[in-house]
Amino acid sequence: MPRKPIIAGNWKLNKTVKEAVEFTEGLKKVICNINRAILPEVVIAPVFTSLYSVNEIIKGSNCIKLSAQNCYWESSGAFTGEVAVDMLKEVGCSYIIIGHSERRQYFCESDEMINKKAKAILASGVTPIICCGETLEQREAGQTDSHIKSQIEAALKDISEEDISKSVIAYEPIWAIGTGKTCDSVEANRVIKMIRETVKTIAGDNAANAIRILYGGSVKPSTIEEQMSQSDIDGALVGGASLTVESFAGIIDGCMKVKA
Ligand code: PGA
Repeated sequence: MPRKPIIAGNWKLNKTVKEAVEFTEGLKKVICNINRAILPEVVIAPVFTSLYSVNEIIKGSNCIKLSAQNCYWESSGAFTGEVAVDMLKEVGCSYIIIGHSERRQYFCESDEMINKKAKAILASGVTPIICCGETLEQREAGQTDSHIKSQIEAALKDISEEDISKSVIAYEPIWAIGTGKTCDSVEANRVIKMIRETVKTIAGDNAANAIRILYGGSVKPSTIEEQMSQSDIDGALVGGASLTVESFAGIIDGCMKVKA
């Protein structure tokens, strides 16, 4: 069965509730009349405080799905400042991004923490979008593949084949994030194939064929068609270009031109 593409917008620390609501109403107008069979899975990841209001707009429409940008692995207790998976599910999240390079870099998120988050997310029936990627130094030192492989092995440790097949991975070379320098599509596809091989070793053929692996890093309307034309790229995790309806819809449109 072909894998359903995903176009996910990671808003990072952007948009007030009012702005998030305006964006979502605008996006809904543009994409919700499109035939679901050709529309990719469209996911938006606002900041925590906007999730409830955005969900009020999209629930029932089934054309836009909601993601959080982070979560905690415990379900309740003395963990000041954290948000549990079931709380995110309650406000409509069906996806949660984990292990983004910004969280690894600025908030000291380790592979072990990412694995705990992945397990908690899957236990609640939510889908993790597990990010991985190398720095420019690692790439120049020829360590890209070994680094990504170890990130994936650690993130998926002790997770069942069935849960792995439902998960989503995003390959985001750190030097391509927010820099305007997209990774060459053929090279991104090569790394993504290597990730799929790694998944195959861990969880077998079925999981490797089912898992969706996205590319992220300066994706724009002008780059998406070439990216989606690659054999193993199942969609995109988009930062900067997901912040206006026009450019995000342009990316969705480009994806449909290739995959519909
Ligand atoms: P970018 O961010 O599209 O702005 O490069 C991607 C991401 O960090 O997920």
